[in-house]
Amino acid sequence: MKLVICKDYDEASLKASEIVINQIKNKPNSVIGLATGSTPVGLYKKLIEGFKNGEISFKQVTTFNLDEYLGISHNHPESYHAFMRDNLFKDVDIQEKNIHIPSSDLKNAEKNALNYTKALQKVQVDIQLLGIGTNGHIGFNEPGSSFDNETFAIALTEQTRHDNLRFFNTIEEVPTHAVTMGIKTIYRSKKIILMATGLTKADAIYGMLKGPITPDLPASALRNHPDLVVIIDELAASKL
Ligand code: PGA
Repeated sequence: MKLVICKDYDEASLKASEIVINQIKNKPNSVIGLATGSTPVGLYKKLIEGFKNGEISFKQVTTFNLDEYLGISHNHPESYHAFMRDNLFKDVDIQEKNIHIPSSDLKNAEKNALNYTKALQKVQVDIQLLGIGTNGHIGFNEPGSSFDNETFAIALTEQTRHDNLRFFNTIEEVPTHAVTMGIKTIYRSKKIILMATGLTKADAIYGMLKGPITPDLPASALRNHPDLVVIIDELAASKL
């Protein structure tokens, strides 16, 4: 595991973007696992800069998103489909056919999750980007999720719904279910970059890196991954 402690969010975004940009430069048809949430926004801005200044092209890049809410439209502004369009895809030359994001269709969630797993089993993800929840979740692998899960549908914990309330008007609007790559799926990625910034993430980072490896703190499952890079700021590192 490589731990990179940065002075702030901007530096963390820059460090993560350097790894992704080098990956795409060295292998233009890279497969990148993408995350949503507030953490990777700065990194995506830097990837867009890299595209605009001619350093990288996404023409041959394939992406697989980590997760999506269930029961909201792909056009809902808080859907992860909309997030990816607004924060990355609309500004780069990625081909629509190379973009994979789990469907938000609640009714067919199980079948769609299985198909997503099958699609992921046909490729080797070169880099998986991850944030971490205040409760140590990755994607929507909430505390208690088995390390053996592939892509699956899950009911969200109240803590996660409250963490995500800032993106919605009322708690009732926050979806109750989501679909996510499982820990087993994530672990198969050749490289994993987990980013966290701010004091609210300090306990989760401590638990991930120093606590027991346990489904109670899903991110701890990644600790023994052969190529894990943890990029955090000083606040998120403050309990280490
Ligand atoms: P955040 O979410 O990037 O918005 O903090 C991360 C997560 O919950 O996985």
